[in-house]
Amino acid sequence: MLNLAQRVGSIKPSATIAVATKAAELKSKGLDVINFGPGEPDYNTPEHIKDAGIEAIRKNFTRYTPSSGIPELRSAICKKLQEDNGITYDPSQIVVSSGAKHALYNAVMAVCDPGDEMILPYPCWVSYQYIVELAAGKPVYVETLEKDGFRIDFDALKEKITPKTKAILINSPNNPTGCVYTREDLQAIAELAVKHQFFIISDEIYEKLIYDRAKHFSPASFSREVKDLTITINGVSKSYAMTGWRIGYAAANSRIAKAMGDIQSHATSNVNSIAQKAAIAALTGSQEPVDAMIEAFQERRNVMAEGINAIPLMSCRVPRGAFYIMGNISRVLGKKIDGRVIENSQVFAEVLLEKARVAVTAGSAFGPEGVEELDSFVRMSYATGMDDIREGLRRMGEFLSKV
Ligand SMILES: Cc1ncc(COP(=O)(O)O)c(C=O)c1O
Repeated sequence: MLNLAQRVGSIKPSATIAVATKAAELKSKGLDVINFGPGEPDYNTPEHIKDAGIEAIRKNFTRYTPSSGIPELRSAICKKLQEDNGITYDPSQIVVSSGAKHALYNAVMAVCDPGDEMILPYPCWVSYQYIVELAAGKPVYVETLEKDGFRIDFDALKEKITPKTKAILINSPNNPTGCVYTREDLQAIAELAVKHQFFIISDEIYEKLIYDRAKHFSPASFSREVKDLTITINGVSKSYAMTGWRIGYAAANSRIAKAMGDIQSHATSNVNSIAQKAAIAALTGSQEPVDAMIEAFQERRNVMAEGINAIPLMSCRVPRGAFYIMGNISRVLGKKIDGRVIENSQVFAEVLLEKARVAVTAGSAFGPEGVEELDSFVRMSYATGMDDIREGLRRMGEFLSKV
């Protein structure tokens, strides 16, 4: 049999999608599963955004567009970046892609040569590792700890910087930890990037989902020098409940933006024309649905965090962003539930789904393989209704009472 390309070898299916698939499979068999797996808002896309998509179809806006996005959308993105983030870009420096994931992929493809070291603070989103490896880059991991609120330890980070460091991939608000980096954190990263000359790929997809009056900062807003090294990644998926529309974007200096645009032009060309019109409505229309969603998420976060901390063998920190909580299960590891030894977070997730019909994502999915600390956690998403949150917590409490 002919060999496939070597790059295929290291890729594993996304653990978060695997949980969703398993939960959906059980649901389709008529079983009542509470799903704390989802990586997307449970809300519907707001009406005015859907209407813009429908209007685009009716007006036959259904042909190819410029590969990096229609001028009107790129201008709307520039306005958003100026008003929300204090960064000035020209529309030619924006590349609209099929989701923030595709924007990240383009960014890494544009800056990373084989063997280049890409720093990934972890726990981190599952796809970063594979995006780097597909570009033949080398993920270099820096652990962030629960006791530090999952903020970056700068001594640990400095130790990882070498002449081969090409970029750091940061994500605030963070998936899976919910950590929101402070201005000081980001400034310290930016100083290191300027000093050692590496890029900052700043994934800001959860920017709007932020609570307790925490503030989001974009490193590109700090100075001209930092902006020149930063690729800002964002999109409409999470903030506007538009995950299926597939609209993300990158903003960067002209050289990088052109490179990303060129890569995209030969890979996928433009993003769906209809979704581009819908994204304009999202960015320029009423932000009330976003505010309502944020308020609901904050309430759900409170209930979920309180509920987790009320379960005798679990605990968590109260995160300030995104819609995930890292539930600490370290006190359960090595113990038996219904005759099964809970050896790690994967086994915990499997047994919990089997016995209590609650889906969570194993902590081990969010970093390098074989890191024991990650097994102390399961990621629990509160992008689900309040009734499900309460029932899921009740089931988890009952499940853990069998330890
Ligand atoms: C940290 C992070 N970045 C990027 C994405 C991808 O977003 P999009 O759906 O816009 O591709 C996700 C989605 O789960 C995410 O969690």
